[in-house]
Amino acid sequence: MLWKFFSGALLGLSASLFNAVPAVAWADDVTLFYDNPLIFYHGRWDASPGTWWASSGFNLVVDNLSSLTLNLGPHTTSPLVSLGVSVNYNAVYTFNASAGSNTIPLSNVQAGPNVVRINVEGWQNNRMNLESIVINPGAVVLPYIPSPLAFQYIGDSLSAGVGEYQGQYVPEGVDQAWPLLTSQYFKAEGTVNAQPGAALADIYAWGNVHGVSYQFFRTEDTGFYSTTDHNYTTPWNFALDNPKPTHLVIHIGANDASQNVSQALFIQTYMDFMTHLRTIYAYQPIFVFTPWGWPAADGSISYYYPGAYQTVVDQRHALGDENVFLVNTTGWVSWEDVYPTNQHPNVEGHQKIAGLFEAWLENWGLRALPFWPSLP
Ligand SMILES: *[C@@H]1O[C@H](CO)[C@@H](O)[C@H](O)[C@H]1NC(C)=O
Ligand SMILES: *[C@@H]1O[C@H](CO)[C@@H](O)[C@H](O)[C@H]1NC(C)=O
Ligand SMILES: *[C@@H]1O[C@H](CO)[C@@H](O)[C@H](O)[C@H]1NC(C)=O
Ligand SMILES: *[C@@H]1O[C@H](CO)[C@@H](O)[C@H](O)[C@H]1NC(C)=O
Ligand SMILES: *[C@@H]1O[C@H](CO)[C@@H](O)[C@H](O)[C@H]1NC(C)=O
Repeated sequence: MLWKFFSGALLGLSASLFNAVPAVAWADDVTLFYDNPLIFYHGRWDASPGTWWASSGFNLVVDNLSSLTLNLGPHTTSPLVSLGVSVNYNAVYTFNASAGSNTIPLSNVQAGPNVVRINVEGWQNNRMNLESIVINPGAVVLPYIPSPLAFQYIGDSLSAGVGEYQGQYVPEGVDQAWPLLTSQYFKAEGTVNAQPGAALADIYAWGNVHGVSYQFFRTEDTGFYSTTDHNYTTPWNFALDNPKPTHLVIHIGANDASQNVSQALFIQTYMDFMTHLRTIYAYQPIFVFTPWGWPAADGSISYYYPGAYQTVVDQRHALGDENVFLVNTTGWVSWEDVYPTNQHPNVEGHQKIAGLFEAWLENWGLRALPFWPSLP
């Protein structure tokens, strides 16, 4: 069933295959049930259908939009899931949704087509179980046309944007973190699989029962373990990646280092992970971040695995895979860019990192698109 509704969503990309959905009569709301192919699902959704991993969500294009209600099912996080809402690619704002009916406040709505993007902000308490979407009478839903650029990010708390709701600080979670800021800059789609506290090695770390080298290949994030209604994982079917990534970015290792994974084992784990990734993403450029380290109040910065990331890149090149690039982030982050209590990037720190990575990618040869295809 899941495959069927996702393949419908993918087919929906070619606009001509589907007619727009008009209101049946002026008096009637326009209802899209969860399996409507005009809902552009992205990230990781289970069969309920429900989200896992910060940043998973859906996009919709709606002409003559004035109201939008989400009906969420029982697998939605209780008491609430923080959703990031963006209309027409404007700034994201938070709406806390709960199981049942949720009327989403809309800002920046214009005459003509509107692109509504809704995702989950948090790295935990991030389950949105979508049953249906109800839009105002007279609304016309059109296919979402994805950007031809699509980033896939893989990481830990340094990429997830640990959020205020979780007792930490970035208010809008992943929506204010450097990966999605960089995606927005290039007018690219962005998918983030970042598990705070997790090592790359498949070991227990900071509450995570698995490492990213295991969990990345599953539908669920490691939060499955603390849920009662879905305490298991399922393999992620990579044919459901929507859209298929064009560029991969990996920033990982902090939690391997804190768990005393040796440098040799870390390099081996990273190499095995790259081999596994290449069975799925055969041709995409992969950007390997060195750590920006942990800044301290005295101005010093503590780094980990010196030279390891260069070794991984060199070893990939030696295997004939030239499409792997080291992104040297040494010096990118200093004390004023992080929260003093946890040394994680603050809101301005994420913006700074995004700016430096954008400049790096432009120097590498990537160019921002002139417009979003769904909002020409
Ligand atoms: C969402 O809920 C969290 C946790 O209760 C709260 O801190 C935050 O202020 C809420 N945000 C909005 C926009 O309601
Ligand atoms: C937009 O919807 C309203 C009802 O909400 C309807 O009266 C109007 O005719 C619609 N406009 C268009 C252009 O479809
Ligand atoms: C999830 O299952 C594991 C056993 O596989 C168990 O140890 C754990 O307590 C369960 N978690 C919850 C929240 O029930
Ligand atoms: C890692 O090693 C340090 C120094 O030997 C030790 O203090 C710490 O407890 C170790 N951590 C783990 C998770 O083994
Ligand atoms: C990364 O940049 C730092 C600072 O410019 C430099 O000292 C270091 O040699 C670079 N590392 C690599 C692997 O290029």
